[in-house]
Amino acid sequence: MKTEDKTLMRALAGEALSPPPVWMMRQAGRYLPEYRATRAEAGSFLDLCYRPDLAAEVTLQPIRRYGFDAAILFADILLVPQALGADLWFVEGEGPRLSTVTGPGRLARLKPVEAIHETLAPIYETVRILRTELPQETTLIGFAGAPWTVATYMIAGRGTKDQGPARRLMYGDPATFDALIDLITEATAAYLIRQIEAGAEVVKLFDSWAGALPGTAFERYATEPAKRIIDAIHAKHPHIPVIGFPRQAGEKVPAFIEATGVAACAIDTSVDPSWAAETLQPLTCVQGNLDPMLLVTGGDALDREVARLKEVFAGGPYIFNLGHGITPEADPANVDRMLKALRS
Ligand code: CP3
Repeated sequence: MKTEDKTLMRALAGEALSPPPVWMMRQAGRYLPEYRATRAEAGSFLDLCYRPDLAAEVTLQPIRRYGFDAAILFADILLVPQALGADLWFVEGEGPRLSTVTGPGRLARLKPVEAIHETLAPIYETVRILRTELPQETTLIGFAGAPWTVATYMIAGRGTKDQGPARRLMYGDPATFDALIDLITEATAAYLIRQIEAGAEVVKLFDSWAGALPGTAFERYATEPAKRIIDAIHAKHPHIPVIGFPRQAGEKVPAFIEATGVAACAIDTSVDPSWAAETLQPLTCVQGNLDPMLLVTGGDALDREVARLKEVFAGGPYIFNLGHGITPEADPANVDRMLKALRS
């Protein structure tokens, strides 16, 4: 099937489809027993990311089980900092840890953008494998973290509640902060272009901590870097759609869509679907925003919420998804139930 005829691509091009195309953030993950088995075979999460055969296998697992309209490359947003020379490791049950960038000295020790591809080569190989192994109707989505979100981890060396260390550097040492954002912006554009050249048909930029940027800094550190990345992609590959995810950016989302030209905007669980249908859908395709907790609890509440989202967004281009990643506690049977409600 040609890329432009696939359901996800049609929605991204502006078509209203019934039922809408569907995939889930973190669809390859710990809620699936087959993921846990492959992860155990790989040893660690990072070993899994860098083993193209196994990373392709876990990407395919949710497609085989559920027949989603899109597969998302299995990797992590923190591979870019690692490729730039940061130390990265994952503490079981806690999350990522990185060496920190707290001033000009640490920044100067990072590698130049051209050096990232050596570390990231296995990721491009995963993309190539996926393009030959995915069902012909399934769209392949590549991704990266947005510069601000990636910077929050590089500065603090871990996930933080309020992104305090990153905001502190932003005000306290703007020269270092701006240079770090620029470096990540260029590396991210180069990384996504390579994913596209390896076979990704769509790419998504995850700005998970966009909501922590003060209103006045949002344009400069969320919107501008996203626009630069999208412009760099489109200079080489004009027809590749980019999905934005400025999580918890609320009322700033319409201006983000207009300034960046994203082909779709993912909305988080906090967004009122009726507001999004009225305000965002005339501007672009909307993706979201089922509460992932409903895949833990299931039942009639899940059916009702799926039906409500389907109805609210029926008038325009829409991709059904969650408002954030599916959690390890989710019941795989509830995903079947969600799809049944969506496709009925
Ligand atoms: O969506 C997908 O299925 C594609 C793969 C993907 C992963 N992480 C795999 C992963 C994607 C798109 C991400 C994005 C990501 N990674 C984000 C942005 C999106 C979001 O969720 O807000 C962030 C902030 C990260 C950084 C990260 N990676 C953290 C904080 C953690 C630990 C938290 C956790 O859930 O354990 C990870 C680990 C991670 N990335 C896992 C997966 C499947 C769990 C690893 C495991 O198997 O133990």
